[in-house]
Amino acid sequence: MSVRNICCIGAGYVGGPSCSVIAYKCPDITVSVVDLSQQRIDQWNSDNLPIFEPGLDEIVKSVRGKNLFFSTDIDKSIQEADLIFICVNTPTKSYGLGKGRAADLKYIESAARMIANVSCVSKIVVEKSTVPVKAAESISNILRANHKPGVKYQILSNPEFLAEGTAVTDLINPDRVLIGGEQTPEGLVAIKALSDVYHRWVPEENIVTMNTWSSELSKLAANAFLAQRISSINAMSAVCEATGADVSEVAHAIGKDSRIGNKFLKASVASIFVGFGGSCFQKDVLNLVYLCECLNLPEVAAYWQQVININDFQRRRFANRIIECLFNTVTNKKIAIFGFAFKKDTGDTRESAAIYVASYLIEEGAQIRIYDPKVDRAQIFSELTHPAVCNNPDRVEELVTICDDPYRAAEETHAVVVCTEWDEFVTYDYKRLYENMLKPAFLFDGRVILNHQSLMDIGFHVETIGKRLARNNVNRPIAATN
Ligand code: NAD
Ligand code: UGA
Repeated sequence: MSVRNICCIGAGYVGGPSCSVIAYKCPDITVSVVDLSQQRIDQWNSDNLPIFEPGLDEIVKSVRGKNLFFSTDIDKSIQEADLIFICVNTPTKSYGLGKGRAADLKYIESAARMIANVSCVSKIVVEKSTVPVKAAESISNILRANHKPGVKYQILSNPEFLAEGTAVTDLINPDRVLIGGEQTPEGLVAIKALSDVYHRWVPEENIVTMNTWSSELSKLAANAFLAQRISSINAMSAVCEATGADVSEVAHAIGKDSRIGNKFLKASVASIFVGFGGSCFQKDVLNLVYLCECLNLPEVAAYWQQVININDFQRRRFANRIIECLFNTVTNKKIAIFGFAFKKDTGDTRESAAIYVASYLIEEGAQIRIYDPKVDRAQIFSELTHPAVCNNPDRVEELVTICDDPYRAAEETHAVVVCTEWDEFVTYDYKRLYENMLKPAFLFDGRVILNHQSLMDIGFHVETIGKRLARNNVNRPIAATN
C-alpha cells in the first residue's frame, strides 16, 4: 500500500511542523492539516505563522498551496486521506478521576469519533500525540464500534520526539522514527506504508518498529528519562550551593564519562536552569506516575513523582533566593524579568519557569516588568492570570508591565532576573543596564548564561544557580532551601 493523501488532525506545535516537513520531503503526497480553531488555521495560511520555529517559515512557504494545505474542513480532509495523523493536545486532566495527573484524552476521543463518523473507505490512523499506554486500543475500540460497512482501520503509534526551538532540524534529522503497530499481516502492511513515507529522507536503520504498547510506553519513558536527568543535575546544584562546589564543573566532570554523556548537562549552554518547563515533561511524567499507580506499582510511581518534586523545589528555591537577597522583601520593588518563553527559540510559554517565578513575586507585591523577544503581551497575561497560578487577575494587571525593550524594562529596577536563555541576553550592554538601575543592582541568572565575573566587575550583585559567587558589597544569605 502506498500513501498518497495525508490528513493531520491538530495544527499545533507538533501537527504543523511535522506535517510541513512531510509535505516538503514528499512532493507526491498531498498533506492537509486541519484544526477546529479557525484563528490557528488563518495564521498558518498567513505570513505570520502561529508558532515560531527556526527554519519553519521557509519550509511552509515553499510547499503551502502546492501539496500542503491548512483548513478547518475536517470532514473533507478525513474523507480524502488514506492515512490520518492524530496530533491533538493531551493535557493533564484538570477535573474528575485522575485530576492533576492523568492525561485528558477527550480531544483524542473526539478526533477518533470524527474519523469514524465520516470515513467511507479503510484508513490507517496514526496516534502521534503523546498518550498513556493502551490509548491506541481505545481509539481502535471507538473506530471499530462505529465503522461503516466494509471500512477497516489499522491503528499505529508514531510518537513525536521533536523539541521546540529545534523542531525543523529534529524532524529533518531525527535520532529515530518510532512506529508501533499490531503484529498481524494487516498491521505489518500499515507499518510498512508509514515507514515508506519517512524513508524518503530518514535512513532505514533509524526507523524503529515494534508493538503498539512498547511504542506508546517508549515515548513516556523517553520524556521521563530526560526530565529525570534535569532533576538529577538540579538536585546536585542545591548540594553545590551548600558546599561551595560548582555545578558546572561537576556536570563537566560527570559528562566526560561516555556512559553518562554531556547532553542535557552541559554547563554553559543548557544546563542548570530554574527547573524544566514546557508543555510535556511535567505532563508526561505525571501521566507515567498515574499509570504506575493504576497498575498497582506504588514504588515505581513514587520514584517518578520525585522527578517532579525536585523540579518544584528548584523553582521555589530560585524565587526564594530573589526575595532573600532583596533584603527579605520585594513588596513595591521593581523587578525586570528577561525571558518568558520556556526555552530559547520558541514563543511557547506553557509551564515556563518564568510563570512561576513571576507569580511568586507578584504574590509578594513586587512590580514586574517583563521582556521577551518572541512572546506578546496577551500571551503573558493569559499565563499569569490563569486560575491555576492566580486568584486575583486585577493584581496582575496592576503589578505587571510588558516591555518591548530590555533596557527600558530594567530602568529604575532593583533587580533583573534571567528566566530564558535567549542568545541576545548574553550580548547586552550590562554597563548601561547597571547605570540605569537602583543600587545595589541585583542580577539573578536563572539560566547560567552570563559572564558573572564581568557583571560583578561592573558592580552587580550576581546570584546564579549551582555555585556560590565571590561577593562584592552585599551580604549574601545562606543558600535558600525551600
Ligand atoms: P497544541 O495544543 O499546540 O495543538 C493541538 C491542536 O489540536 C490545537 O490547535 C487544537 O485546536 C487541536 N484540536 C484539538 N482537538 C481537535 C479536534 N477534535 N479536531 C481538530 N483539532 C483539534 O499541542 P502540541 O504541542 O502540538 O501537542 C500535541 C501532542 O503532541 C500532545 O500529545 C503532546 O504531548 C505531543 N508532543 C508535543 C511536543 C511539543 O514540542 N509541543 C513534542 C512531542 C510530542
Ligand atoms: C522535550 C523533549 O526534549 C522532546 O524530545 C519531546 O518530544 C518533547 O519534550 C515533548 O514530548 O513535548 P521540549 O520540551 O520542547 O522537548 O524542550 P527541551 O529542550 O527538552 O526542554 C524542556 C525543558 O527542560 C525546558 O524548560 C528547558 O529549559 C529545560 N532543560 C533542558 C533544562 O532545564 N536543562 C537542560 O539541560 C535541558
